[in-house]
Amino acid sequence: MPKIIALAGKGGVGKTTISALLVKYLTERQLTPVLAVDADSNANLNELLGLTVSTTIGQIRKELKGDMPPNMTRDQYMEMKVHQSLVEASGFDLMAMGQPDGPGCYCAANQHLAMTMDHLADNYKYILVDNEAGMEHLSRMNLRSIDYLIVVSDPSARGIMTARRIAELTGPLAIEVKKKCLIVNRVPEPAGPELLAKIQEAVEAADLPLGGLLPASNELVGQELAGRSYLELGGEVEAVRRAFAIFDAFLS
Ligand SMILES: Nc1ncnc2c1ncn2[C@@H]1O[C@H](COP(=O)(O)OP(=O)(O)OP(=O)(O)O)[C@@H](O)[C@H]1O
Ligand SMILES: [Mg+2]
Repeated sequence: MPKIIALAGKGGVGKTTISALLVKYLTERQLTPVLAVDADSNANLNELLGLTVSTTIGQIRKELKGDMPPNMTRDQYMEMKVHQSLVEASGFDLMAMGQPDGPGCYCAANQHLAMTMDHLADNYKYILVDNEAGMEHLSRMNLRSIDYLIVVSDPSARGIMTARRIAELTGPLAIEVKKKCLIVNRVPEPAGPELLAKIQEAVEAADLPLGGLLPASNELVGQELAGRSYLELGGEVEAVRRAFAIFDAFLS
């Protein structure tokens, strides 16, 4: 059974950044094979990993409404298409969910997808899901439980309270969350004692275990601006070191 790691948090807090660092972590630690799922309709995880996506699950779901090739059931077709859509890289595959169903959704397609995901999941040691702020893709993929939920927040008391509410959103989805933590991202470096005390206070009130603080990093920004993969970042980069230490503790 694969271990499922999901990222959540409000817009722009660093979910995709941390997802890319997680792919780097899992592949470097040889905790492979990994399936990285970009569940943001505005797919961009691929960019941080230096990959190009040609087909999204949303596009396949649409095709499923049309005629099937002869001698193929819709499930077989879905399975074949999903396999074709995977971007294969060293130690991991990338899948992009693409656009969710608009009005007039062909909901049976989601059942085909859920079944396909069930089969596909068995091929991996870890499945990593980079979400957009909403978590509907999680239910769509038929994930019944999440082993590790990472909620990301900006370094403010209000941000941390929002993260807490987002962590609670998994309840109504009937998805069991086995372990969760908060990562406070883009913490100014060096962080003054006042800010650290504020963060600590908010974390205690939020009742969400603190995974760690990730510094604001010029190296991460520079890498993204240059269009370079995070997989190429060296282990000496402070943000990488700190992220790996957080993952070591949380995923152990
Ligand atoms: N630790 C960091 N240091 C510096 N910049 C960062 C850091 N984390 C994230 N960023 C920058 O912040 C921006 C938003 O990050 P990211 O795309 O990871 O957020 P997100 O939560 O995935 O956003 P969305 O909700 O749009 O999917 C990016 O330009 C990213 O480079
Ligand atoms: Mg994102």
